Amino acid sequence: MAIPETIIQQITAKVDFLELVGQYTSLQRVGDRYRGLCPFHQEKTPSFYVQPDKRLFYCFGCGKGGNLFQFLMEMEHLTFPEAVRRLAEKAGIQVDLYDEQSLEKGRRQDAILQLLKRVAGSFHYILMYSPQGIPARTYLRKRGLEDSIISKFQLGYAPADPYWLKKFLEKKNFSRELLLESGLFTHRSPDRAFFVHRIMFPIYSSQGDVVAFGGRKLSGEGPKYLNSAESALFKKGEFLYGFYQAREEIRRTRTAVLVEGYMDVIALHQAGVEVSVAPLGTALTPAQVRLLKRFADRVILFFDKDEAGLQAMRKAAILCEQEELEPFAVSLEEFPYKDPADFIQNGQKGELQKIVKYPIPILEFLLKKTSLKKDTGTHQGNLLKVEDLFPYIESMVSEVRREAAIAQIADFFELDRDSIRKDFQRKKWINAPRKVSQEERKTESIQRTPEIILMILAMESRKNFEDIRSRIALDDFEDPRGRELYITLEELYREEEWSIDRICQRISDEALKDFVLSKLISSEFKMNQERLINDSVMFLKRRNLERQRQQVLKAIQRCERTNQAEELSQLLEKKMYLDGELEKLRAVENE
Ligand code: GTP
Ligand code: MN
Repeated sequence: MAIPETIIQQITAKVDFLELVGQYTSLQRVGDRYRGLCPFHQEKTPSFYVQPDKRLFYCFGCGKGGNLFQFLMEMEHLTFPEAVRRLAEKAGIQVDLYDEQSLEKGRRQDAILQLLKRVAGSFHYILMYSPQGIPARTYLRKRGLEDSIISKFQLGYAPADPYWLKKFLEKKNFSRELLLESGLFTHRSPDRAFFVHRIMFPIYSSQGDVVAFGGRKLSGEGPKYLNSAESALFKKGEFLYGFYQAREEIRRTRTAVLVEGYMDVIALHQAGVEVSVAPLGTALTPAQVRLLKRFADRVILFFDKDEAGLQAMRKAAILCEQEELEPFAVSLEEFPYKDPADFIQNGQKGELQKIVKYPIPILEFLLKKTSLKKDTGTHQGNLLKVEDLFPYIESMVSEVRREAAIAQIADFFELDRDSIRKDFQRKKWINAPRKVSQEERKTESIQRTPEIILMILAMESRKNFEDIRSRIALDDFEDPRGRELYITLEELYREEEWSIDRICQRISDEALKDFVLSKLISSEFKMNQERLINDSVMFLKRRNLERQRQQVLKAIQRCERTNQAEELSQLLEKKMYLDGELEKLRAVENE
């Protein structure tokens, strides 16, 4: 009886190897390994080692070694299937090794992994060597990527012909069902490929299997990025892009660099920063942080230089603290680039390398950002700003760390430590035992931002979403929850029927789901939908234009000081353009 590889891997990933071995002998950490007295033979000095990240053990005394299954087989005198069953139970994985059906399911997953691997290879080949791949190749070169890095990440190109993939895979004798299950075809029209005319980013599991793809559009209609639909093999919130390529280096340096996008991960690797990873387009999840925690002690957050990036960074910092990973930040304030990929595109490999060498503690970064906000200097204003930092302080597990943070904040704003401490306690007290009802607690943190309103309206009907997406892009969304909804709806837009049920299934943030549902059930957004959509779109567009204008103004001032005539004239042109756009918006609004 062949046990499917997928099942073995799932078990391996889920079982805590250290805890398992720890039941038979006590272990002590030495570097990245653990050492103890060998449970297989008598000894006085420990020569038994466990390598938890590789899930391997070895004894220099008696020579026994292997993976977690072999460990349990030796320890308990079990056969392989028995050990698998025992560990599956431990991992909470439903598998009945004597049930053909569940074995069959595992084998199908093995076959899907084979298929995805094959497809990744073909996409890569087409990108590198076929005439069809030329536009994609040119695009990647223009963005500054070298061939070696394209190969390292096995980037590819999905052909413009939507029927190519089907024909190609049928020749390789993959069954129809398997093709559908692979996530590479849409359920609506199973002959058409899901990814068409896109740059392909294979997403690997920690073991190095391709489990899904991200695809960036090269030109034309559609969302900038698409991800494979979720499946038994692929849960977006449990994977990090680049983790497979980065894991060894993360383990060696106990450090990871967390960025926003696929291109940023690759850019940093090209600059020699081979510890960089990104979530798959959505906000960081606790599962992703725990994945990092297996190898790293600290995380450097290096997000886009915009409001969305800053917000995402605050949230990520809180998650890191909760899992006791020390967060640091890279600030792009003094650079003309908006994200790591921008450095590479502009040939600034050296600069990029340098900037991650000197990250600052996240609190310092947040203090700087906070001090730029609202009215500066007044005592009252400072107190308000300090409160902004309370959620972060509260996320700290260590009391010592929290005390140090409070002291630092006090020094920064020249406030009294005791009053900050008291304020913090009072806030906590107000927030916690106020006996809020279950409902209230769940929805209290969700704001009615224009982004959220738009997405609720989009859920009301497919037509609404069509309208919204034709007028405003993800880039104009700042609210992270709004962004998440936008991405989810984009995915469903291509795929499935438009039902509230389907949509809600895809929202993993429980509070958000409840909030959205409560609004959909109420009549709050049932009337005047067109008007509401229009107002919200206008608001977001104006906000974005005004932000850009502020940045240009700042840059203009800088150029005037340093006498950079050429750049100055470019900036002035840009300002005129933005003024014109704002004027147009105003005209439309007054109609
Ligand atoms: P490039 O233009 O390719 O450099 O992308 P970027 O990394 O600058 O994109 P951006 O900062 O807009 O987005 C960061 C990440 O968010 C991307 O790498 C994607 O994972 C995700 N993302 C962006 N746009 C979309 C979208 O339209 N749909 C989905 N699903 N994800 C997106
Ligand atoms: Mn970006």
